[in-house]
Amino acid sequence: MQAKLLQGKELSQKIQEEIAIKVQELKAKGGRAPHLAAVLVGNDGASETYVSHKVKACERVGFKSTLLRYSDTISEGELLAVVDELNENDDIDGFIVQLPLPKHIDMAKVIEQISPKKDVDGFHPINFGRMAANMPAYVPATPDGIIEILKRYKIETRGTHVVVVGRSQIVGTPVSILLSRAAYPGDATVTLCHRHTKDLADYTRQADILVVATGIPGMIKGDMVKKGVVVIDVGITRVADTSKQSGFTLKGDVDFDEVAPKASYITPVPGGVGPMTIASLLKNTYLASQKAIYRN
Ligand code: GUN
Repeated sequence: MQAKLLQGKELSQKIQEEIAIKVQELKAKGGRAPHLAAVLVGNDGASETYVSHKVKACERVGFKSTLLRYSDTISEGELLAVVDELNENDDIDGFIVQLPLPKHIDMAKVIEQISPKKDVDGFHPINFGRMAANMPAYVPATPDGIIEILKRYKIETRGTHVVVVGRSQIVGTPVSILLSRAAYPGDATVTLCHRHTKDLADYTRQADILVVATGIPGMIKGDMVKKGVVVIDVGITRVADTSKQSGFTLKGDVDFDEVAPKASYITPVPGGVGPMTIASLLKNTYLASQKAIYRN
């Protein structure tokens, strides 16, 4: 068996085309373009790349975007004031504060300061709680992108055993909640594994669908999965590679060469989950502009 690739890149482009059409319709009716703002603190290379992808994607679909850059010496109070201004600015439908933040800034405090109505990253505890309660909410981009991949490739989730490796607030924990909900994709039995899980392979070998989000490149080996498994690899770590002009290569959490021959479906890295996160952020921003989650 050789796995079919779950082509997140192509799917993301398709979703972006769908959003672009909606924006054209909106503008044709005299409406204004959805507007996303992004706050970038410091000059972390990966964050710069992610934010520039987000801004370019906004341009592609006809959104307005604003990038606000601050030095990594900005104080917590100053950053909270920036968030307040964005909360109050009626021209901005939604905004994100790119993570990670410098160590002297309390990330949780910043996230809580964001108005849940403009929290298109879906990181605010109110959105997290609403998501868990199966209420309308902004769902974080990565879990939403995973759900969208499963949906668009018509992968059955009901009654399956989903094993999630990694319990982060922005991927592992929300995806485990989403896939256990009474919904499609959902209705799965979910096992959430993490750094203290004993005998990880005992769990991963039981997975019908395996979601890996640990940031440990290549940690899932061929002997850790069963035949026919659906593999969603969220990892995207920069690993030093002198043969590349950039000096690095991107590696997933799954050893692709070992696992792909046993899998029925697998996401490539890059080009799998990563591009889907952009589509989900745009979707959330569109929803924000239409007041589709919160009415006022
Ligand atoms: N850093 C890594 N992923 C994300 C994301 O989805 N949103 C934000 N704001 N920061 C990130």
